[in-house]
Amino acid sequence: MTPEHSTALATPEDEMLHPVLDPGIEEHVERYSDADAAVGDRAYKQVVLCFGLVPVLAIAFVVVYFAVPADFTARLLGVNWHVHSTLLGLTGGLAVLLVGIGAIHWARQLMNDTEIAEERHAASSSDEEKNGFVEKLNAGIADAGVHRRGLLVSSLGGALGILAVPAVVTLADLGPWPTAAVRRETIEKTIWADGVRVVNDNNWLPLKASDLEIGQLVNAEPENLRELHGAAYHNAKAKAALIVVRMDPNSIRIPESRRDWQIGGILAYSKICTHVGCPISLWEQQTHHLLCPCHQSTFDLGNSGVVVFGPAARALPQLPLRMDAQGYLVAQSDFTVPVGPSFFERDSRNDFKDGDQ
Ligand code: FES
Repeated sequence: MTPEHSTALATPEDEMLHPVLDPGIEEHVERYSDADAAVGDRAYKQVVLCFGLVPVLAIAFVVVYFAVPADFTARLLGVNWHVHSTLLGLTGGLAVLLVGIGAIHWARQLMNDTEIAEERHAASSSDEEKNGFVEKLNAGIADAGVHRRGLLVSSLGGALGILAVPAVVTLADLGPWPTAAVRRETIEKTIWADGVRVVNDNNWLPLKASDLEIGQLVNAEPENLRELHGAAYHNAKAKAALIVVRMDPNSIRIPESRRDWQIGGILAYSKICTHVGCPISLWEQQTHHLLCPCHQSTFDLGNSGVVVFGPAARALPQLPLRMDAQGYLVAQSDFTVPVGPSFFERDSRNDFKDGDQ
């Protein structure tokens, strides 16, 4: 480490190697916090204050998490604010910001302010250099006031430690532990059930079998979705989304076990890709193929939704349909297998495979 540098160009070779003069280190300007002990003390208190506010904000985060309802909104400046997540963002974000501000203020105002420069050298260090590094490190720690100003270190340690609390608390948002019973009531179940009418996703009108033409595809939902609100609505919609297609029954393969799941070539499938869950509706009328826009998995709706191309590993789940007394399409039951992407512990034994009857 050398604070001074040679600025003389000794030989033409040197001039080739160093075509630009090394300007050296700028003249050192003493900081206010070094020149005036009162300013230094003030900076010290500001750093401790920054770290000291972090536990307050971390506790406020936890209080907000439990005390403010997750769907509570308020109107402010003409905008509807989601109060729960806004306050969580403010308290959690400010806490992290204060740790950063405190650390930067500490480094800029209280740590050693000596400029140093080091010439480039071979990548590996000699033992002497390594020992020198350890000495400098220890000197730096001493300069940083780690021993002298123990409160700084303990307040930083406390501030970082307390930030683990909000992080742990938010793990509760991962949902209930997925036991078999919980899975049966959540990811393995949708709101489709016997007698639930199939309605158009755009206008909520129930679909009549006689209104569908061959080659037509309709995005659909269960009629009972309208009874739900907020998060329950979105959860149910994400799983129950449906596509209904009508194909010429003579041009498709209907296995024996699914013969009464369709009405004259009208079939219904989950709209959620079995790869990683994108909604699908790119429909090729002629081939009966349905293409997922995300990674190009292609499903043959004329053959029980089996995969004909792409990374999806399972056929699209098919919803058993029937017609009610007024001629409207209704479900016979929920899907017979879980919709969407795979998950741990998923039982794949009932998934349809090409050639199944
Ligand atoms: S989500 Fe459909 S192919 Fe990946």
